[in-house]
Amino acid sequence: MSLEIKSRFPIFRAHPDLVYLDNAATTQKPDTVIERITEFYKEGNANIHRGVYPLAAQATTDFEASRDKVQQFINAAKREEVLFNSGTTAGTNLVAQSFALHRLQRGDNIVISAMEHHANLIPWQVICQKTGAELRVIPMNSKGELDQKAYSTLLSNKTCLVAVAHISNTLGTINPVEEMVSMAKQKGIPVLLDVAQSIAHYPIDVQALECDFLVFSGHKLFGPTGIGVLYGKEEWLAQMDPYQYGGDMIRDVTFSETTFAGLPNKFEAGTPNIAGAIGLGEAVDFLVSIDRAQILQNLKELQAYAMSSLLSIEGLQLIGRATNRTAIFSFALADIHPHDIATFLGEEKIATRAGHHCTQPIMDFFGLPATTRASFSIYNTTADVDRLVQTLRDIKAFFS
Ligand code: ALA
Repeated sequence: MSLEIKSRFPIFRAHPDLVYLDNAATTQKPDTVIERITEFYKEGNANIHRGVYPLAAQATTDFEASRDKVQQFINAAKREEVLFNSGTTAGTNLVAQSFALHRLQRGDNIVISAMEHHANLIPWQVICQKTGAELRVIPMNSKGELDQKAYSTLLSNKTCLVAVAHISNTLGTINPVEEMVSMAKQKGIPVLLDVAQSIAHYPIDVQALECDFLVFSGHKLFGPTGIGVLYGKEEWLAQMDPYQYGGDMIRDVTFSETTFAGLPNKFEAGTPNIAGAIGLGEAVDFLVSIDRAQILQNLKELQAYAMSSLLSIEGLQLIGRATNRTAIFSFALADIHPHDIATFLGEEKIATRAGHHCTQPIMDFFGLPATTRASFSIYNTTADVDRLVQTLRDIKAFFS
């Protein structure tokens, strides 16, 4: 199955030896996504929501069709609840500025977790500092699992929002977001879910999850970079002020006053990433066309295989040993610098990421400056794991 899927990704024809294990940073693109973006620029390029000539009307139709595809993909109740932006970071910043900032007062709090990506940490930290509110952090244990008991005690009638990741980009932990949302809901607290690392592989249903906001980036689910989605419940979005002001988000403008467009346009100021949105729609079509259940099963098997193979390397310290985890592995190897490991792996055509992975508090927690991270996706196989593990053994031998 993985090999069949792999043939849909032209990058592996250009680089036949490539073992691509940097999927948590960005995924590769299938042929249909690449072709659709090229086709748009070659044959369909025009701005949207403005021109009345056929090319512009078609571009608008295609852009809005992508919104419908995303709506169905995440099972949003309404298409107006799907906002396009540049990615996960844009989504959390919009909710911080347009939703949370106006509701926060001194003494209130926002609850995040100890394993958030900086994109789901700094926007909340900054508005808490501005307002005198408190940033509360759900602690984790040494396996990289959130302490659910502690979480329940952090929630109070002063909690303005809970913002947590479904899957940690560094630890691979799959958080029990269904239960976490439900705990917050029992206290009437809105919840934002960062599904950047789960959307490609796990089914996401915003109505079943009952989350209030949800953010992800197109490039993590085989779509282009520079396009992302913020889902928000209409009841919140309708009350919120725009985050950015400019073209395409207004109803009426005079020098004394501006009235704003309805949803979703109110939150999509300026010419958007039209080709990106259309490419994202194509990526959604790709995901819908494959057997996702089988692919997820393969990924789970690959996770177990990679875990035991990596742990067979003496001196390898894997951070993130949650019982419920996905195929993202951050590790230290003896005292070899992670950048040396990643460079050596790169020379052997194995792509990984080294650094703090935009999660410095996780590095602090484990007392490491950085790790090497291998993250898997639908086109990876056990042969990729074997090459990674053999090369890590070679690196260890080389540095000792
Ligand atoms: N958030 C991406 C990563 O984890 C960039 O690498």
